Amino acid sequence: MRLRSRCIETDGGKKLVDKELIIESVRYRYGELARGAADCCGERDGFAPGSGVYESTQIKDLPEEALMASAGCGNPNAIGELKQGETVVDLGSGGGIDCFIAANMVGETGRVIGVDMTPDMINLANENKVKVEAGNVEFRLAQIDKTGIDTDSVDVIISNCVIVLAPDKDAVFRESVRILKKGGRMHISDVMLTSELPDHVSSDMDNWTHCLAGAELIDVYIKRMRESGFSKVEITSNVSYREGLEEDWVSSIRSVNLLATN
Ligand SMILES: C[S@@+](CC[C@H](N)C(=O)[O-])C[C@H]1O[C@@H](n2cnc3c(N)ncnc32)[C@H](O)[C@@H]1O
Repeated sequence: MRLRSRCIETDGGKKLVDKELIIESVRYRYGELARGAADCCGERDGFAPGSGVYESTQIKDLPEEALMASAGCGNPNAIGELKQGETVVDLGSGGGIDCFIAANMVGETGRVIGVDMTPDMINLANENKVKVEAGNVEFRLAQIDKTGIDTDSVDVIISNCVIVLAPDKDAVFRESVRILKKGGRMHISDVMLTSELPDHVSSDMDNWTHCLAGAELIDVYIKRMRESGFSKVEITSNVSYREGLEEDWVSSIRSVNLLATN
């Protein structure tokens, strides 16, 4: 499948989102990443080790394959507290890095459910789970807007660089509100914008699968969360996502951490 040749149509600057094409393209890209990490010859070293956002104590005992598959833009477990015994759901769990960190925080009396729609990622995460002996973690193959998780059953949702990839963000936030208990929290690390991207960037499917073309203005993202039912949404950090590139529009891309309450 050649992703680069596939474009997102636009109508006078408005993106016409083909949801099925996006889901299929994202699943294809992250399947490749998972297979590369599984045989340790992937396209890159993974986000976590060099990012500086994870404590070395959090990742030192994790398998190489979990680190190589890590493709986040923050550390959602650092946004707020996780307590012993809590139930945590990771939306777009990838190779499982944030699930394993959360599992240590909630302890044996807590549980962590990682949700991902890419079968190769779920396979990789399950192999990593065996290596780290995380008995309180399970991985489920599902889309993050239809998790199949019980209503009012979750204390904390975490998500790391995933909702930017979702073609229907309102559906993801409505599903999050549904599964969270009243007063439950959501810790999000994601890519957002301070101004709209140029058309040639936002219409390229390759940019969508690389967590760029699906990015929204920070205000729009937060408004969607509020309208989906979150009572409180606060920005806990907002830093530049990509340093060192020349184009003007690059400075509008931000890596943002949000803490929301249901
Ligand atoms: C950028 S990676 C981040 C993975 C992980 N959170 C991390 O920090 O390493 C995005 C992951 O989200 C998954 N994903 C993307 N869109 C999804 C959707 N709509 N439903 C379920 N999983 C999705 C992909 O399969 C991939 O594993």
